[in-house]
Amino acid sequence: MPKDPYAWIEQSLTTIHRADWYRSVQVLSDRPGATVVLSGQEVINFASNDYLGLAGDERLVKAAIAAVAEFGTGSTGSRLLSGHRQLHRELEIAIASLKQTEDAIVFSSGYLANLGAIAATVGKRDLILSDQYNHSSLKNGAILSGATVIEYPHCDVLAIQTQLQQHRQNYRRCLIITDSVFSMDGDLCPLPSLLALAEEFDCMLLVDEAHATGVIGKTGAGCVEYFGCTGQPLIQIGTLSKALGSLGGYVAGSTNLIDFLRNRAPTWIYTTALSPADTAAALTAIQIVQQEPQRRIQLWRNVDYVKNLIQEQLPHLTLLPSESPIICFQLPSPAEALQVGKKLKESGIFAPAIRPPTVPTSRIRISIMATHQIEHIDKLISVLKNTK
Ligand SMILES: Cc1ncc(COP(=O)(O)O)c(C=O)c1O
Repeated sequence: MPKDPYAWIEQSLTTIHRADWYRSVQVLSDRPGATVVLSGQEVINFASNDYLGLAGDERLVKAAIAAVAEFGTGSTGSRLLSGHRQLHRELEIAIASLKQTEDAIVFSSGYLANLGAIAATVGKRDLILSDQYNHSSLKNGAILSGATVIEYPHCDVLAIQTQLQQHRQNYRRCLIITDSVFSMDGDLCPLPSLLALAEEFDCMLLVDEAHATGVIGKTGAGCVEYFGCTGQPLIQIGTLSKALGSLGGYVAGSTNLIDFLRNRAPTWIYTTALSPADTAAALTAIQIVQQEPQRRIQLWRNVDYVKNLIQEQLPHLTLLPSESPIICFQLPSPAEALQVGKKLKESGIFAPAIRPPTVPTSRIRISIMATHQIEHIDKLISVLKNTK
């Protein structure tokens, strides 16, 4: 019998199953929202990153439809090769206005924005310091760049300082990379301290505002605004696919940085531009973020309400520290996390189990939306009370 070069795949799947790490997708019906129909069952949705409830908003839908009617469905090629729409530029200017930066550039996803920005700004002669809990796109961007990568313990400013003291002088450039809101934990990076270290050791600092854009800061500009760091020399990444309810990613920063990325970021140069529908929807979302602060205010009311109820009524839950709409409680094993996730779903609550290798310890991740009603949250709490 000839050897099957693909036999290892089945063995790997078996190993994944055995560890309770196996994942599969569930089918959603209807528009995204605070409640969704999941595999035919109506559930309250605590699994979405649509923090402001914009992904199903009529205005975004209309803007996307109008853009498709005018410009068609596809962007037909890379912007450098095939040209772009004025809409792309309008979106970039809107992002720069929200972030208070000189300019911005949109990518086809947040993942690609991270890969492109990191791979373009550092190379073999350079050093990257990366938080151990960073999102996969930051970690893979670091690998793609070819730079030496040192992972530091989560948010540990002293550890970064020590690494810089020991290694900075051996490298040409240094880039510190961090999520601003950690996506599977919900806590924030120590941005002002990171900026101080970046200045002291002549480093660039890249901060991923994927879960902060539209959510955190007085105007929804993100953690950079929240920490009073607007205008500081930063490479700011974000996504259009969470609070902005669309699809795509961005880098915001200085005119020179953005101009350089247009010339050097491989995941921007060698890929097709954002579709007209996604571009128009994101542009409308930014206008809503700027014109309707009440959405953000309601989101934070909901977050406070959930956190207070958990503190009062569910003291046994092992909560991870959170300063965002992402609230996680830990479970001892992947199997138990799966079991709790399943029980929640049976009781009408959609809140996913997050397991290794995504995170080091298993947990249930609850993500709060501005459009959750008090009844939705009360139901979450009562179901959690009855779930062992
Ligand atoms: C911190 C972080 N960065 C980047 C991304 C990727 O963004 P996108 O979904 O737009 O590719 C995500 C989530 O998907 C994320 O959580």
